[in-house]
Amino acid sequence: MCRRDLAHCISYKMRFFIKSYGCQMNSHDSQRISSILSVAGHEVAPSLNEANLVILNTCSIRDKADEKVFSDLGRLKFLKCKAIDDFLIIVAGCMAQLRSRDIIKRAPYVNAIIGPQNIHQLADCIDDLLKNKAIDAIVATSMDVAGKFQAMSSASPKAADGVSAFLTIQEGCDNFCTYCIVPFTRGRQISRSLTDIRDEARRLTFAGVKEITLVGQNVNAYNGDEGNNEKCDFSHLLFELSKTEGLKRLRYTTSHPKYINSNIALAHREIEILAPHLHLPVQSGSNDILKQMNRRYTRDEYLRAIDLLRESRQDMAFSSDFIVGFPGETDRDFEQTLELVREVRYTQAYSFKYSPRPGTIAAKMENQVPEEVKSERLQILQELLDDQQTQFNSGFVHRRLSVLFTKNGHHENQLTGRSEYSQAVSIYDKTISIGDIVDVQIIEVATHSLIGML
Ligand code: 5AD
Ligand code: SF4
Repeated sequence: MCRRDLAHCISYKMRFFIKSYGCQMNSHDSQRISSILSVAGHEVAPSLNEANLVILNTCSIRDKADEKVFSDLGRLKFLKCKAIDDFLIIVAGCMAQLRSRDIIKRAPYVNAIIGPQNIHQLADCIDDLLKNKAIDAIVATSMDVAGKFQAMSSASPKAADGVSAFLTIQEGCDNFCTYCIVPFTRGRQISRSLTDIRDEARRLTFAGVKEITLVGQNVNAYNGDEGNNEKCDFSHLLFELSKTEGLKRLRYTTSHPKYINSNIALAHREIEILAPHLHLPVQSGSNDILKQMNRRYTRDEYLRAIDLLRESRQDMAFSSDFIVGFPGETDRDFEQTLELVREVRYTQAYSFKYSPRPGTIAAKMENQVPEEVKSERLQILQELLDDQQTQFNSGFVHRRLSVLFTKNGHHENQLTGRSEYSQAVSIYDKTISIGDIVDVQIIEVATHSLIGML
């Protein structure tokens, strides 16, 4: 009997609780962990207190997260001591990959440490821990991307919950931006094959999914295998996936400005189900800072990429990521970021204070920016970005937007979903169900959401 079969016949079902700390890739991994454990026969616990298997899916992209994990581990130690039966604690994610030795030293009661590219081994690992109580701790940080892709391709369609799903097309990153820890935690960039991605898209739509978001650290640098030794680039992948039966909407994130090209712009013009929204992180509007960041594009090249897409589809909406207070950033550099924001007119954005990551080039740069300057710049930038978002959203009052409703809202009879431009839209209407795509009249607007009616 193979190990996977063994996992299906464990007599002892664990009740698991997953805590995610990080980015979209991290929460996507948490969804995968959840479906891997469900398929193996374990059950979701409604709360941490009702769980006997706790998975901390950690993140390393910015600071403070590490200390938070250690303080959470302290609390879990207490629960583990109180437990009468098995109680397993697993640390997964980027911090697990980077700091496995530290974790074992500071929290020897942790049962397993699983890197982000090894999560497919989780069910077998739990099985081993339950059968062999003498195991001290299992450490799986070998970055087995091929194994992870294979597990994705054989996952059950039931794992797809809801009408909107993520589909991984690529793992890792080769860009080595000087501030970023990701290439060290998730490894080199590897693309999945077109055939595997196409099959997963079919399985998802067969299970009721209407919207797919293609995910990867650098999706538009996708360079997969089409079969017959032919390579497939990102625009080709978009055209291929747009043919998936039952698929109503296609999105992708995150893109790198350097890899935007005319074929991707063409895809936005030609593919009806491709959302007119692009998350295109710029990080800074200053050429000097972009160079120090090793972003490998200039401010003008970024603006040209935006123009290219707007020429293909004039209603394209752009969102972005920004870092303020990168080492050496002067008032003039920061002003250039503000000017770029005014020029592009973003519809949504995420902005962060630069956070030195041990082991990265930027962390060793001498001209670090004081914390109070970072905070001040962040506030100025966020006010401008919020204003732009409100302005964009306000333009839709009394207009109609096509919305895919994906989940229940916080209030009774409320449903929420997203417009084609990625705005959150909610509605109170009993005639609408999750999965419906409806033209909605917008009646009220807030900075981060809209309210509509039929
Ligand atoms: N400090 C601050 N922000 C960072 N990001 C990545 N690394 C850092 C860092 N060291 C931000 C970038 C990236 C987003 C996912 O996180 O803006 O696009
Ligand atoms: Fe990090 Fe840059 Fe890769 Fe994005 S592109 S994951 S910021 S190294």
